[in-house]
Amino acid sequence: MAQIIVNAIVLAAGKGSRMGMDTPKQYLMVRGKPILYYSLKTFEECKAIDGIILVAGADDLNYCREEIVEKYGFLKVKSIVAGGKERYLSVFEGLHAAEGCTYVMIHDGARPFVTEEILLHNLETAMQKGNAITGMPVKDTIRICTPEGKTISTPDRRVVWQVQTPQTFLYEPICKAYQVMMERGHTDGITDDAMVAERFAQIQTVMCEGSYRNIKITSPEDLEWMRMQLQ
Ligand code: CTP
Ligand code: MG
Repeated sequence: MAQIIVNAIVLAAGKGSRMGMDTPKQYLMVRGKPILYYSLKTFEECKAIDGIILVAGADDLNYCREEIVEKYGFLKVKSIVAGGKERYLSVFEGLHAAEGCTYVMIHDGARPFVTEEILLHNLETAMQKGNAITGMPVKDTIRICTPEGKTISTPDRRVVWQVQTPQTFLYEPICKAYQVMMERGHTDGITDDAMVAERFAQIQTVMCEGSYRNIKITSPEDLEWMRMQLQ
């Protein structure tokens, strides 16, 4: 049987505008280490992961190499590449650099609480079903509204999930999906990789339970919560 190679793409090329600070959120220090350190460490220490592609802002490549990858000895990081203006452009760059793998796990560098258990459960699901989209059933009722706040509909909470990362795919089909999307230029409203797989390669995506702790550090309250958790 051919050897299975698993690469991770860790995204860190965002500006963090909702955090409202000068420094992009993934580089903010918590307990003496940048937020990005925490998810990289989980991927580094997980035996199932062969290589990591770190996608950073064009101006932050040296910082990432020297102050994160070399400083903490992340030996699995085999390339640090410049991302793009939007998340999907950063993923597209990461996919080029991840070439040669069987499975690719795409992860937000702003999700420091991902665990080895989540990675393994994701990978196992992807190996059985072709892909795995981390998420959790929502706890609140979700309402679809007009921009003015008038309710259009209220989906049954029992079938609504909040989406997280990692999202794991067979490498070739997700690459193909991204290529089709880029060729067509239909990128409006794309916020995760499952959407790309569904829309541009007709892939049936499969949810895989993550954790309510696997939050994305997005706004100042999240940072406060992270500091409390790590105290
Ligand atoms: N990301 C990226 N390239 C972009 C935009 C986002 O690599 N052009 C990454 C972020 O660094 C983050 C993940 O994608 O790890 C999820 O994105 P999000 O939480 O939206 O981060 P930001 O775009 O940085 O934040 P904001 O939307 O508030 O500006
Ligand atoms: Mg964003």
